[in-house]
Amino acid sequence: MSIQNGEWVIISRVNLKDKLTFFKSLRFRIMVILVLIGIFPCIIATNVVVRGYENRAVSLRIMNVRNQCEILCNSLVTEDYLGNTFSDVLNSELSLLSNIYNGRILIIDSDFKVVKDTYDLDVGKTSVSKEVISCYEDKKGQTQYDDRNEYIEMTFPIDDRDTGEIDGVMLVSVSTHEIQQNVMILEDQGILVIVIVSLLVLILGYFLAGILVKPFLRVTHAIEDVTDGYEDQAISVPDYTETKQITDAFNKMLTRVQTLDNSRQEFVSNVSHELKTPLTSMKVLADSLNGQDNVPIEIYKDFMQDITMEIDRENKIITDLLSMVRMNKESQTLNFENVDIGAMLERIIKQLKPVAAKRSIELILENTKPVMAEVDEIKLSLAFTNLIENGIKYNIEGGWVRVSLTSDRKYFYVSVADCGIGIAEDQQEHIFERFYRVDKSHSTEVEGTGLGLSITRSAIVLHRGAIKVNSKEKEGTTFQVRIPLSRQI
Ligand SMILES: Nc1ncnc2c1ncn2[C@@H]1O[C@H](COP(=O)(O)OP(=O)(O)OP(=O)(O)O)[C@@H](O)[C@H]1O
Ligand SMILES: [Mg+2]
Repeated sequence: MSIQNGEWVIISRVNLKDKLTFFKSLRFRIMVILVLIGIFPCIIATNVVVRGYENRAVSLRIMNVRNQCEILCNSLVTEDYLGNTFSDVLNSELSLLSNIYNGRILIIDSDFKVVKDTYDLDVGKTSVSKEVISCYEDKKGQTQYDDRNEYIEMTFPIDDRDTGEIDGVMLVSVSTHEIQQNVMILEDQGILVIVIVSLLVLILGYFLAGILVKPFLRVTHAIEDVTDGYEDQAISVPDYTETKQITDAFNKMLTRVQTLDNSRQEFVSNVSHELKTPLTSMKVLADSLNGQDNVPIEIYKDFMQDITMEIDRENKIITDLLSMVRMNKESQTLNFENVDIGAMLERIIKQLKPVAAKRSIELILENTKPVMAEVDEIKLSLAFTNLIENGIKYNIEGGWVRVSLTSDRKYFYVSVADCGIGIAEDQQEHIFERFYRVDKSHSTEVEGTGLGLSITRSAIVLHRGAIKVNSKEKEGTTFQVRIPLSRQI
């Protein structure tokens, strides 16, 4: 039971999440926009119609009442009603008028005393209202519409024909209750129209939005298919410019991932091959020693020397691989310090002098002025050692390697030039690849793993620097390096 409860809770959570996802979806947003677009004109139209009707009905009512009241007022003056309020004809006309418009008429004399009230409530009482006073002052009638209390109030002056003075005021209140009722009916009808339009737009919007977002769902499915491994080709959903942009960007990313995967596979197979070669040689050497009886000690020594060389080679490959991995991994942990670059190059050259001397190669260092820079000395030493070492390795007997150092305000520049065998034009773009060696048959004479320049470039790039190569076969090679004087990371 408790497990069932637990499951139910999980299911309900999933449902809630699904619902929230729907409210965040493009489909829902399109629906909301369509409903708003549909509703707003309806609200405006309803308002215009209702207010238009109200204004028109009220001004018509005012016009009618005023006309009749003015006629009645004339009769009141002619008949001297204020002097004799018992005129049956005028009283019945006043009653008739107030009945027709569901209103009330008060006649107030110059002492603000009510002389006639069609409701017969206030006769004889004093009525001092703002409207009556201003009618006396302005000598003309006034009209006021109170829509909240649903009535129109009007005043008409009753003047003395001979003197022109105002003897009294007729105060008329007319109900507009029936107009307000019509307004309410119209408003109700307007709301009904708005609700119906909203529902129709909502249903229509649901299907329309579904059609509009379909290409995006197709993009999602296509990407899912690629991710699940059903497709390994580029996807294409050209329905909209946006879907095309998304799929193009995805295809670019896919190509990049595939390239990375290929290079990883290639790297693994290269590493295995490179590590296996010295082992194979050692096994061949050891087997041939084991297969022979009474081998002379000289041959033993000779074979053991070869085995030691192979062990050294294996060791160098592993050391290079470790430096390369460290270079990629420790990109954030460069150990910056202020280094005298000229002195650093001098130390490297001193270390390599014995190697160069073996082939009578001259090592020259040209630095015009001292250069101090903020760099990781160990990593940069590794890079320049490889460049100078290459200059020696791929050189001719009695050749030279020239290292020069210059700087400007932002960078220092190191160039390593040699008069060696050079690199063919079509090979130059590959020499920075891992394990790449120009002309494998020639390379067997010169030892190396093909990792040196890859490590060199990584070290330079980590310093936000750049490296380029200029070379001509049989004439020589120049590597030019540019590195910022101060740290850029
Ligand atoms: N100065 C140069 N002159 C001619 N060829 C060069 C020069 N520098 C590099 N190369 C070519 O580029 C290849 C790659 O150089 P890289 O330094 O990466 O590897 P390597 O010297 O063969 O081995 P490692 O440096 O790992 O011992 C070399 O095998 C060589 O063919
Ligand atoms: Mg090298």
